[in-house]
Amino acid sequence: MNMMNLPSKACVIGHPIKHSRSPLIQNFWLREHGLQGSYERVDVAPAELAEFLAELPATFRGCNVTVPHKEAVFRRVVADETARAVEAVNTVWVENGLLRGTNTDIYGFLANLDVGAPGWDGPSPPRVVILGAGGAARGIAYGLLQRGAESVAVVNRTASRADAIARALGDPVSAHDWDELDVLLHDCSLLVNATSLGMTGQPPLSIDLSPLRPDAVVTDIVYVPLETPLLAAARKQGNRTVDGLGMLLHQAAPGFEKWFGARPRVTDELRRLVVADIEAHP
Ligand code: ATR
Repeated sequence: MNMMNLPSKACVIGHPIKHSRSPLIQNFWLREHGLQGSYERVDVAPAELAEFLAELPATFRGCNVTVPHKEAVFRRVVADETARAVEAVNTVWVENGLLRGTNTDIYGFLANLDVGAPGWDGPSPPRVVILGAGGAARGIAYGLLQRGAESVAVVNRTASRADAIARALGDPVSAHDWDELDVLLHDCSLLVNATSLGMTGQPPLSIDLSPLRPDAVVTDIVYVPLETPLLAAARKQGNRTVDGLGMLLHQAAPGFEKWFGARPRVTDELRRLVVADIEAHP
C-alpha cells in the first residue's frame, strides 16, 4: 500500500490516555513542517485492543502505544529487533497492509543523554547503575549494552524483577538489592532512575549520592517535576544531570518520520512548549 493512500492521521493509545503529551509534540511538528494531518489521543481499554489494531489501517498511519498496552501490542504486530529485545512496542506503523512495531523509548533515552551529557559514554565504557526493574529499566539496560556499557547493575525492591532482566540480557547485567547501592555507586559513571519514585504524587527517592565520583552523570526518566529531588541533589554536589523530558521528546521523532515522512527536530521551542504544559498541568 502506498503511504499517500493512507489517512494522514496518527494517534496515541493507552488507558487512561487523557494526560498524554504526545499530541502536543506531534501536532507541533505537523505545524512546523506545514503538513496536513493530525495526531490524537484514543482511549483503548485492554478488551478493545485487538479490534482497535485490526481497524487501525483504515483510519491511521500508525500510533504510539503507552501504558498498559506496550507488551500486548508487541505480541500483535511484526516487531523489529529492538522491540523483540525488550518485548514491548511503543510505535506502530502500517507497511504494505501489515502492522509493524518498534520501541523508540530506547533511542529516546540515549539521544537525550547524547544531547544533555555529551561524552557520557567515553573515553572508557560506561559503568551503569539503574534503579528499577520495570519495562522502562529493561529497555534502558538493553540500550546501554548496545552502546558498549562495561557493566549494568539493576537495583530493585522486588528481586525477582531485577533477576529477570539480568537473565534476559545476560552478562554484564547483574541484579542487586537497594542495600547494595552504596557500594555500587562508588564505581558508577552513569546513574539512572527508572522507577516512578520522585514523581509528583509518588514517594520521594532519597538516596545518599555522596559515594558518586564527581564525573558521574545522573539522569531520571521522571520529568514531572522537571528537576526531581534526585537530580537536584546530584547537581548540588557537582555531578552532571540530564532530566527526563528529553527522552519523551526524542522518542517521539522516529514515529513522526514513519507516519509523515519528515525527520523532526527536538528544539528549544518544542521543549518550552512542553515545559509550559507541564507547569500548567503537572
Ligand atoms: P515501567 O514499566 O514504567 O518501568 P513499572 O513496571 O510499574 O513501570 O516499574 C516501576 C518501577 O518502580 C519498579 O522497579 C518498581 O519496583 P518493584 O518492581 O519492586 O515494584 C519501582 N517502584 C515503584 N514504587 C516503588 C517504591 N515505593 N519503592 C521502591 N521501588 C518502587
